[in-house]
Amino acid sequence: MSDWAVEVRTAPDPGRLAADVRAGLALSPVTIPPKWFYDEKGSQLFDQITELPEYYPTRTEHAILEAHAPELPAVGTLVELGAGYSRKTRLLLQALTRDGRPLLFVPLDVAEEPLREAAVRITADFPTVTVRGIVADFDDELGPLPGTPGDRLVAFLGSTIGNLTPGPRAAFLARLHRATDPGDRFLLGADLVKDTDRLVQAYDDAAGVTAAFNKNVLAVLARELDADLDPDDFDHVARYDTRLDRIEMRLRARRDLTVPLRRLGLQWRLARGEEILTETSAKFRVDALAAELAAAGFAVEAVWTDDAADFSLTLARRGP
Ligand code: SAH
Ligand code: AVI
Repeated sequence: MSDWAVEVRTAPDPGRLAADVRAGLALSPVTIPPKWFYDEKGSQLFDQITELPEYYPTRTEHAILEAHAPELPAVGTLVELGAGYSRKTRLLLQALTRDGRPLLFVPLDVAEEPLREAAVRITADFPTVTVRGIVADFDDELGPLPGTPGDRLVAFLGSTIGNLTPGPRAAFLARLHRATDPGDRFLLGADLVKDTDRLVQAYDDAAGVTAAFNKNVLAVLARELDADLDPDDFDHVARYDTRLDRIEMRLRARRDLTVPLRRLGLQWRLARGEEILTETSAKFRVDALAAELAAAGFAVEAVWTDDAADFSLTLARRGP
C-alpha cells in the first residue's frame, strides 16, 4: 500500500531572506540567491519555462533519462534534490520499480507546493512507491538521509547544480558526501557549454516567460520584506560570460530608484542602469565535471549525453 507525507524541515522564512538580502546588498553587483525565485508563482513559471521551444535542457535531459534510466542499479531509496514537480523523475521511478519492486522516494525542495502536488500524483500512479517529501534548503546539511546505507540513489536533475558557483558547488558536494554512505549513487544532470546564441535565447525567450520568472523575485521581496518594488521599473537581462562559462540573469533598473525595505529598516538606492544579479547558470565540460565529482569522493561510473552533446547525465558512486 503506497502512501505519502511531506515534512517541513526548514521553511524558507522571511528571516532567511532578510539575511540573504542584507548580505547581497553588500556585493557588487547586488546579488539575490536564486532559491528565492521559487514561491508558488515562481515554481509555476519555471514549469512553463521547461515547455518553451528555446529552453532545450528539460526535454534533452528527459530524452537521456528515457534512454538510460533502465541501466541504473536497483536501489531501495531514491532521494531527489531540488525536485520541484518531479516530472522527469517519473522515468527513474518506472525504472526503479520494475518487477513490482518497492521504493522509498524522498523529494527535497525549498518549495512546498510542487512537492505536495508531486507526492499526490506519484502515489496515485506508482503503487509500490512510498513518498516522504522534505521541505528543506540544500544549502543546509543534507543528512541524515532516509534509507539503507549503500542502497540509495541521490538524483540532482535539471542542471540546478549550475546555479551554484564553484566554491558553493564544492561545499555542496562535501555536504552530499557527509550525508551519503559508501556505495550510494549520485545521478547528476548538467547542461554543457555550447553556442552562445542558443544559450542566451534559452534564458531570454520570445514569449517573455523567463523575464516574468526573473521579475518574480521582486514580488517575493516586496511581499516578504514589505518593500515597494514595481517589476515595470526593471528590465530582464540574460547574458553569457564566456570566461566563467555561465549565463547570468540580471534585473536592470530603468530609472533611479529608492526602494524602502521596511522589514530591514533601510532604503535601497539603485541608479538607472544598475543591475541586480539574480542567477548564474554554469555550463559544464564533461571531463571537468567528472574531476569535480572525483575530488569530492564520487567516482564516475557512466556519462550519458544526447547526440548533440547539449546536456549530460553522470552516474557516480560514493567512495569510502
Ligand atoms: N528538478 C526539476 C526542477 C528544477 S528547478 C527539474 O529538473 O526540472 C530548481 C528547483 O530547485 C526548484 O524546484 C527550486 O525550488 C529548487 N531549489 C532551488 N534552490 C534550492 C535550495 N537552496 N534548496 C532546495 N531546493 C532548491
Ligand atoms: C533550475 N535551473 C537549473 C534553471 C537554469 O537553467 O539555470 C533555472 C532557470 N533560470 C532561467 N531559466 C531557467
